[in-house]
Amino acid sequence: QRGHRVAVLGAAGGIGQPMSLLLKQSSSVSQLALYDIVGTPGVAADLSHIETQSTVQGYQGDEELDECLKDCDVVAIPAGVPRKPGMTRDDLFNTNASIVRNLVQACARSCPEAMICIITNPVNSTVPIASEVLEKAGCYDPRRVFGVSTLDVVRANKFVADAKGLDVSTVTVPVVGGHSGVTILPLLSQTTPSVSFTTEELDALTDRIQNAGTEVVNAKAGAGSATLSMAYAGARFVLSLLKAMSGSPDVVECTFVKSDVTDAPYFATPWRLGKNGLEQNLGLGSLSDYEKSKLEGEVLPALNKDIHKGSDFV
Ligand code: APR
Repeated sequence: QRGHRVAVLGAAGGIGQPMSLLLKQSSSVSQLALYDIVGTPGVAADLSHIETQSTVQGYQGDEELDECLKDCDVVAIPAGVPRKPGMTRDDLFNTNASIVRNLVQACARSCPEAMICIITNPVNSTVPIASEVLEKAGCYDPRRVFGVSTLDVVRANKFVADAKGLDVSTVTVPVVGGHSGVTILPLLSQTTPSVSFTTEELDALTDRIQNAGTEVVNAKAGAGSATLSMAYAGARFVLSLLKAMSGSPDVVECTFVKSDVTDAPYFATPWRLGKNGLEQNLGLGSLSDYEKSKLEGEVLPALNKDIHKGSDFV
């Protein structure tokens, strides 16, 4: 069986570099194709010395983009500008929306069947943009377009484990909704192993998970937003997808995708992944009253706005 060719677009950036390193360490990747507008020859040369099987090739600038994407099975997109203090993810909208549109147009030309994993924020809007672009190009398969919201799950697992003194390797918290502020809805009532929370704990944990990105933006004091934890989450998602594409049966990740579980046309829930990408939506499960009221009152109104902003852009 041929291994997988994986492209990282924005590979020289704060997320792109550590994510490429994590992918280089995995035996599931046979070719790593690194693209950026600047800096990729250096990053590729550096990573290519690591003693793992995969080949690494750097591509730089518009004229090398299509060659980078050719024969790719999975494309991860962290290209864009990061958030600075005082900026919301939506302030990034105009710049990042155009970057994602251009890169996905190139995917439609050069690897129309690839799985496309969008990391560039605001994900609530960039996933609709990617989907509209592919639709217009006549190659949209909703099973193959993912918003990488994995960092919300990673953070929820860690914060709950810390708050309750649990071994984090055993903790799983499904996180649904969107990937920004109040649109992020951790389903703490469905934490495994089963834990109970007071209302104060629910409020504090929900708030921390929703605003964890801002915690990092403020701590970095002008130097950008989460990169290392996002790279970890991005690599976790891509490697899960590759595992599922290779035939592993029980791969589940929460991801922000085209969805019909609520009235928001894109929505994150846990999904079983398979050879063709999204395979089975595991849905919302049974929500607590606390979660129901957040979903209706806060998540859906804000998320629908973000989604329309993206769809209207294309
Ligand atoms: N094509 C490819 N790469 C691009 C393009 C483009 N059109 N425009 C910018 N880039 C590259 C930059 O050259 C840089 O190497 O994207 C990379 C972005 O890296 P950083 O500026 O370090 O930003 P980072 O912290 O990695 O965040 C990138 O991910 O989570 C989101 O909100 C974050 O949207 C932001 C993105």
